[in-house]
Amino acid sequence: MNQASVHRLTAAMGHKKSSKQFFDLRLAANLGLVQRLFHQLYPKETESNHFQKLMVLLPKLFQSRPDELKIQDLNRLESGNWYQSEKMVGMQLYVEHFNKDLKGLQSKIPYLKDLGINLLHLMPITPRPTGENDGGYAVNKYHGVAKQYGSSKDLLNLTQELRKQDMFLMLDFVVNHTSDEFTWAKKARAGDKKYQDYYYTYADDTVPKAFEKSLPEVFPETSPGNFTYDPEMKRWVMTVFNNYQWDLNYSNPEVFLEMLTNLIKMVNQGVDIVRFDALAFLWKKMGTISQNLPEAHTLISLFRMCLQIIAPGAIFLAEAIVAPKEIVKYFGQESTKGNECEIAYNASLMALLWNSIATKKTLLLYKSLTNVPQKPNDCTWINYIRCHDDIGLGYDDGFIREIGWNPQLHRKFLLDYYCQRLDWSPATGLLFMYNPKTGDGRITGSATSLLGLEKGLAKKDKVLIQEAVSKMILLYGIVLAYGGIPLIYGGDEIGTLNDYSFLEETDKKDDNRWVNRPKQNWDMVANLNDKKLPQSQIFNAVQKLIAIRKKHSVFADDNNLVIHHTGNDHIFAFERTSEREGLLVLCNFDEKEQVVQSRWISKLGYFTKGEPKNLVSNKKVPLKSGLLRLDPYQLMWLMKG
Ligand code: GLC
Repeated sequence: MNQASVHRLTAAMGHKKSSKQFFDLRLAANLGLVQRLFHQLYPKETESNHFQKLMVLLPKLFQSRPDELKIQDLNRLESGNWYQSEKMVGMQLYVEHFNKDLKGLQSKIPYLKDLGINLLHLMPITPRPTGENDGGYAVNKYHGVAKQYGSSKDLLNLTQELRKQDMFLMLDFVVNHTSDEFTWAKKARAGDKKYQDYYYTYADDTVPKAFEKSLPEVFPETSPGNFTYDPEMKRWVMTVFNNYQWDLNYSNPEVFLEMLTNLIKMVNQGVDIVRFDALAFLWKKMGTISQNLPEAHTLISLFRMCLQIIAPGAIFLAEAIVAPKEIVKYFGQESTKGNECEIAYNASLMALLWNSIATKKTLLLYKSLTNVPQKPNDCTWINYIRCHDDIGLGYDDGFIREIGWNPQLHRKFLLDYYCQRLDWSPATGLLFMYNPKTGDGRITGSATSLLGLEKGLAKKDKVLIQEAVSKMILLYGIVLAYGGIPLIYGGDEIGTLNDYSFLEETDKKDDNRWVNRPKQNWDMVANLNDKKLPQSQIFNAVQKLIAIRKKHSVFADDNNLVIHHTGNDHIFAFERTSEREGLLVLCNFDEKEQVVQSRWISKLGYFTKGEPKNLVSNKKVPLKSGLLRLDPYQLMWLMKG
């Protein structure tokens, strides 16, 4: 039984309980699972000691939760799955790039609300090393605020204000690694054996070499390999990401207990969604790629169950940018189904949309999405087109082959198309982490630069500009309507282009993901009433689509998504259904006008009460000779009835 059900049952039985009594109930209801998960990871007899420690820790952590948040937890349990509502629309942003610091951000809440945003994902704001720090993903401390963003007080003020405004906050929990300046790393360096065991450290390179045989490389250009020799410690340490990010050793139960404490401290600041960073990497095993291992799932589920017992109003987002069939596993499987992460990034949809833009075709999109196993009912997606990271080409080779393409050549084409290696391509992206050993590469660049706006504006090419605007609206029209939480990447709402200023900064110039981490252009925002600007067209369209989404409950994620095959390879179609409403989304990925046979749409019941209305244009959609016509890159949201 999930937490909400336990809670509702007790509430329905008319018990007036204190929040501590509800905590005891949650603990009792979930103790069996917590114990099983814990002992699965830490089976040794001696570990029972640690389980006892966990049992002492849980009530202590609960006690540390502020009363206001305890009340909010209970209210959330009663009101159902808030994160699946049609009202949810998020924005991801860098505080320093948006409006200087936390106070500056707070002063822009009216701008965000005006657009329709009610969830903020702030990029890391915790203390980090000066110099290179992977955009804050090298953590010196899991709570508290790095000076440049303001103070802990500013964060508490912000979270309080967000609650008042019915808005939600997501922050990262960088669970896989700390920076090499973290207290534990410092102690390990100084020779403290206890803390050397908090990481994977080795006296010589025998074990590292054996691990390397099967480990892939995350940053092959800037941080090749997965281990770093630390001359001060005189030991090798596992560093899967950058050499200054030390991987935590979760086979040591002390690490789990300490990280759980860090998690709760962070959540207690008023965080609603915890972005569980790089969680696929949490467990390492020699002879494997050390990603998506069953033990990693057990560990995540253990974290989640503890979080649910202590702070059931807070939930997890899985940052698992892995193969489609692997992503859904982060919602939990079998006995932990629905007991892992409530949300996961829909990285497959994101990468497939960029494939459709480049190829103007939707068959890979259709094939791949219709083969993703159904997610549990209580879980949802974050749907997005861009974020602060690169775009990886993680498609299923089998589906690429079924379409008749060669997977390797196809990926090469996509890199060429987006990374300025084809004259005719409108895209201005950059090649990220090209690995000559494997031929793999990824893509960076802002959404509009990848869609051709940068080139269009430079060449003053009206067609290119208009196409980029239409493609942007098309893509956002999809993520806003697909089941889940749409997450707008800060700056996309005003069509922000690539930012090349990172090339001038020593600590950033080697990591071209900074090209798509732009500063908010408030001058542009001030000009948005100039309706002719492409940026205004994007803003107005996105704002309007958000408003429509919020008005219709059919957009809420009830696992009510059906993907259709239209017979036209340029058109992507999906439907959202509910008892009262039906919404058919049609998207033309081609630069030319395209048609679909209306027959199958009629069968779905869209023409039974006359011509359906396209909510995007607010016009009825006519049929001509049984055909429904879509303009180049047109988005339609057809409402049934
Ligand atoms: C996640 C973040 C990425 C970071 C990595 C290591 O993938 O999105 O930006 O580099 O974790 O923390």
